[in-house]
Amino acid sequence: MENNEKYFKAWDSDSKVLASNGTYDWMLNHIRNYNTILEIGCGSGISTLKLLQDGHNVVVIEFNDFCINAAKDLLARNGYEDVVFIKWQISELNCRKLIERINSNIDLVICWNPGGAAALSSTEMQNKFSELLSLEYEINSIESFESAYAEDIIRSAFIIGDILNKDLHIIDRFYNEDIENMEYIKEHEYGYSDWLFDQITGPTNENTMRGLSNQIYYKSFLFTR
Ligand SMILES: C[S@@+](CC[C@H](N)C(=O)[O-])C[C@H]1O[C@@H](n2cnc3c(N)ncnc32)[C@H](O)[C@@H]1O
Repeated sequence: MENNEKYFKAWDSDSKVLASNGTYDWMLNHIRNYNTILEIGCGSGISTLKLLQDGHNVVVIEFNDFCINAAKDLLARNGYEDVVFIKWQISELNCRKLIERINSNIDLVICWNPGGAAALSSTEMQNKFSELLSLEYEINSIESFESAYAEDIIRSAFIIGDILNKDLHIIDRFYNEDIENMEYIKEHEYGYSDWLFDQITGPTNENTMRGLSNQIYYKSFLFTR
């Protein structure tokens, strides 16, 4: 089985837990005022379905074909046929180019539970590793590679939000309750005037986060203009 199929299956299983225990509902509660959402990374489509059922329009950016196909199937089975999917592997280096592909009026950019380094093939992983090093990320081990990979997606989300001049919602998962050491809270660099923070404890994503047994904190950051 290819890594991107394995990753899709692992996240499908993890995200069902988030759906059944109300974690997605908690996420949705923070963004009720926004109509059309640009979702970076749809997983197996459960988050996208939740957004649609909550009354939003959604445009998806996703690169993993297994995720795209499963999400389209799930949405179609629930009567949502017209969601726009943009196939794109986002990075800090290419996200400005992505803007040309977005034809809808977006009200909010979301980046929920970023990650997915494990979906890469070994060649893709080596290329990404070199790319991140060229961007001066500090990478000492595979685990920090995974978080550097997620950080690259978050930075891309900030850049897209900045170019579109829209608010940005990030949900990120941490082993620590503290928010002080979160490097990526640089809202002023990206023209955000304010941000709202919230967190809850939730399940460890045991298939996609290597079964680490620590408590996980789901942190919500809504950056506003
Ligand atoms: C952990 S899942 C989260 C999915 C969804 N946001 C949720 O909360 O259920 C991460 C998703 O981002 C996608 N992804 C990872 N890297 C990406 C990239 N560079 N560009 C676009 N999508 C990416 C993965 O394929 C996966 O679907």
